[in-house]
Amino acid sequence: MRIGISGKGGVGKTTIAAVLSRTLARRGHRVIAIDCDSDPNLGVGIGLGAQAELIRSVLDQSGPERHVPVGLAPVELLDGYGFPAPDGVTILLGARAEKAGSGCTGAAHVTIREFIEFAERDLSGTFVVADMEAGLEHLSWAGGTLRHVDMLLVVLQPTSKVLLTADRTNRLADELGIAEVAFIANRAGEGDRERLESFASERGRELLAYIPDDQAVLEADRRSECLLDWAPDSAAVRAMESLADVVELRGRQPVTT
Ligand SMILES: Nc1ncnc2c1ncn2[C@@H]1O[C@H](COP(=O)(O)OP(=O)(O)O)[C@@H](O)[C@H]1O
Ligand SMILES: [Mg+2]
Repeated sequence: MRIGISGKGGVGKTTIAAVLSRTLARRGHRVIAIDCDSDPNLGVGIGLGAQAELIRSVLDQSGPERHVPVGLAPVELLDGYGFPAPDGVTILLGARAEKAGSGCTGAAHVTIREFIEFAERDLSGTFVVADMEAGLEHLSWAGGTLRHVDMLLVVLQPTSKVLLTADRTNRLADELGIAEVAFIANRAGEGDRERLESFASERGRELLAYIPDDQAVLEADRRSECLLDWAPDSAAVRAMESLADVVELRGRQPVTT
C-alpha cells in the first residue's frame, strides 16, 4: 500500500506522516517513510532528533557534479539510502537543498517515483508513506512523483487558501490517474466539520480523519520529539490512530485502478 500525503504548507503533512508511519510499524507492518521535501523534517517529526541530519539523500550534491542513482531496484535503493527510524520505520530522503543556486531536485523525484512504482512489485505488503513538499509540483513535474501511489491523502484546514490548494491537488491527482484521493481535516474545530465534509463530498471524496487542534502537537514540535512519544494519549494521536485503522483496512483490500 503506497500513500502520498499532500497539501498546502504548514497544514500538518509531516506530523501526520510521522505518526501514521510509526503507528503502522507498531502494528507489525514494514513501513518506508519517504521524505520528499527539499527542506526535510520528517526525520525530526518521526523522533530522530539531531540524527535526522545524518540521513543521506538520494540526490548527492557533495561533489562538483550532482548525482542521482538510476536504475536501482527498491531493495538496492533502501540498502544504500534507507535510514533506520524508531519502531522499525525506514526513512528514504529524496533531496536536501544544500547548495545554493545548484538547480532543481527533479532528478530525485524521478527516482522516488520509480521507487514507489516498483515497491508494489518488490516490497509487497509494505506500507510506503510519502510526505510531500508543499505545492503541486510532485503532481506536475518528473512524470508526477506520486503517480503510482494507491492513495493520496490531502490535508485540509478550514481556510480558503488551503482549500484552493486541495482543490487543485485533487484535480491534478485525478488527471494523473491516482487510484484514490481522500481528505484529512487537521486543526479543524467541530464548527468546521460541515464545511469540510461538503468540500470532500462535492468532489466525490471521503473525509477520512478529523484531527483536532491540539497543544500537544506544538509542544512535541518544540521539544523535537515525535508526537507519539511525547503525548501518546493526546487527542491528535487518537485521531491519527483512527486514520491508521482506515489505511490498514484499505491496505488489505485488492487495489483497483
Ligand atoms: N493538530 C495540530 N494541532 C496543533 N498544531 C499542529 C497540528 N498539526 C500540526 N501542527 C503544527 O503545525 C505546524 C506545521 O506542521 P507540519 O506537520 O510541519 O506541516 P507541513 O508538513 O504540512 O508543513 C507545526 O508547528 C506543527 O507542530
Ligand atoms: Mg512538511
